Amino acid sequence: MIKSASIIGEIKSSSLKLKNKKDLVLLRSKYLGKKSLLASAMADLAQLKGAQRAKLGRELNSLKESIEAVLASAQTRLEDLENQTQYQPFDISSPGKSLSSESRVGHLHPVSLVLKETYQIFTELGFAIVDSPEIESDWFNFEALNMPATHPAREMQDTFYIKNSNQKFLPRTHTSGMQVRFMLENKPPFKIIVPGKVFRSENEDATHSWSFNQVEGLVVGKGVSMANLKGALLQIVKRQLGKETEIRFRPSYFPYTEPSVELDAKYNGKWLELGGAGMVHPDVLKKGGIDTEQYSGFAFGWGVERIAVIKYNIDDLRQLWRPKIEFLEQF
Ligand code: PHE
Repeated sequence: MIKSASIIGEIKSSSLKLKNKKDLVLLRSKYLGKKSLLASAMADLAQLKGAQRAKLGRELNSLKESIEAVLASAQTRLEDLENQTQYQPFDISSPGKSLSSESRVGHLHPVSLVLKETYQIFTELGFAIVDSPEIESDWFNFEALNMPATHPAREMQDTFYIKNSNQKFLPRTHTSGMQVRFMLENKPPFKIIVPGKVFRSENEDATHSWSFNQVEGLVVGKGVSMANLKGALLQIVKRQLGKETEIRFRPSYFPYTEPSVELDAKYNGKWLELGGAGMVHPDVLKKGGIDTEQYSGFAFGWGVERIAVIKYNIDDLRQLWRPKIEFLEQF
């Protein structure tokens, strides 16, 4: 007589104690091997006859299936255990280790800090932040801004072009290329800023780099004036560099603004150039499909790195993009 229920209970509890595959092989031979109870009961079956034999046969078969099921689930458990030791789960929320000291925590790059603040200031003033392509067409970057192919004002920014594009596409030289692009797709009034990287053929020095970030501002509406431009810039610069900061306009020339000015800020007793600005040239508004009888606008553009070096008192703008952790750690 074989007691299936107690055999199954026994093998189940042993199977939970298995530590590895070797233990599993031993357990399998104990319950299914040649010397197992099951094997001898099977052998005894030959001596039985008729209904008795059939009944015991069914019982033994079902016991065998149960044993195999227990062994199979033990095997799966052992394989899972093996995988876990191979691929240790790790806590993605645990703090990272930095290069030289365990306690060092990372932070935003100075340029990102300035940009973050810029977005905050302009959003509070009701400006929308507009995304823009870094590869621009010659038309939007120059032509639409009153700089045809032979215009000398191109020279200042003349630049890299995209190979095989017949000089029709270029890494944009300024974010102003977004002015007409935006006008063509939106109806005034609007107030936007366009942050982004620009690229120029530039002789690098402490205040110039061949690639840097700009923030372009564009406001178009009814009765927008030069006084609005100065008022807005004063507010913005004070928010960004501190309440004591003064600004001044110097006459300048950009083919796409009329009149045009350079924007300087007096910071810590020194006048520093921030960028260019002016009233959007009527021809530019027209190229953007805007009715110049009804609307006028102003635009400005400055370098984000410039603001960062002023704000954080950095003597050479090129340091910002050198991979020197000791330098970046100071901010
Ligand atoms: N695009 C100019 C530059 O890169 C700055 C500028 C923007 C001037 C908008 C006038 C109006 O220097």
